[in-house]
Amino acid sequence: MKFFLDTADIAEIRDLAATGLVDGVTTNPSLVAKSGRNFIEVVREICTVVAGPVSAETTATDHATMLAEGRKLAKIARNIAVKVPLTPDGLKTCKVLRAEGTMVNVTLCFSAPQALLAAKAGASFISPFVGRLDDIGESGMVLVRDIVEIYRQYPNFKTEVLVASIRHPMHVLEAAKLGAHVGTMPPAIMRQLFSHPLTDKGLAAFLADWKKTGQSILGDDKSAAAAE
Ligand code: E4P
Repeated sequence: MKFFLDTADIAEIRDLAATGLVDGVTTNPSLVAKSGRNFIEVVREICTVVAGPVSAETTATDHATMLAEGRKLAKIARNIAVKVPLTPDGLKTCKVLRAEGTMVNVTLCFSAPQALLAAKAGASFISPFVGRLDDIGESGMVLVRDIVEIYRQYPNFKTEVLVASIRHPMHVLEAAKLGAHVGTMPPAIMRQLFSHPLTDKGLAAFLADWKKTGQSILGDDKSAAAAE
């Protein structure tokens, strides 16, 4: 399963990308507004930090303008995935951009038939919003399960299921169990994935016992290692 960061916060992206576990980034107009940065500039910077797909969202609702926006965004970097909404104009734009070799992430997916349409339009990614469905009393994970099941019936569909609107680590776990290709998550949730109180407790005990031995694995090599 690929891990994408769902943020336009460059400091957070740099920090977590240093783990080597970040496969891509998703942004949306709300996240760009939160960053306070110029859209094109921040997306360009993200593309220099993360080699994998970086989603940049169009904001027009009509096909002609959306296509012009998508073409402009695609020129920012080779790893741009243009994000279009799941509307007739969005899918029409998706088809054209895909034919031009641009990656496309179809966003705001809330039903399996919508996901079927996106795959037929050749989307690189479909983004079901699990948290927002849970928020209104529906099940985001039932939608992910349905999409994964439908796509498996048609090996010619190349669209990857990108689980979005992730609210907690259980969403990541459930998406992985269902075989979703990608999960995009806020940095705080990726950090939560690392932590377990027994890991912290066990590490503290090992370190305390190690200190009692008075030994050092690096010994005299310590200064050389620090200099590297
Ligand atoms: C990512 O592509 C989506 O825009 C994002 O995950 C939406 O998350 P939210 O529902 O928390 O705003």
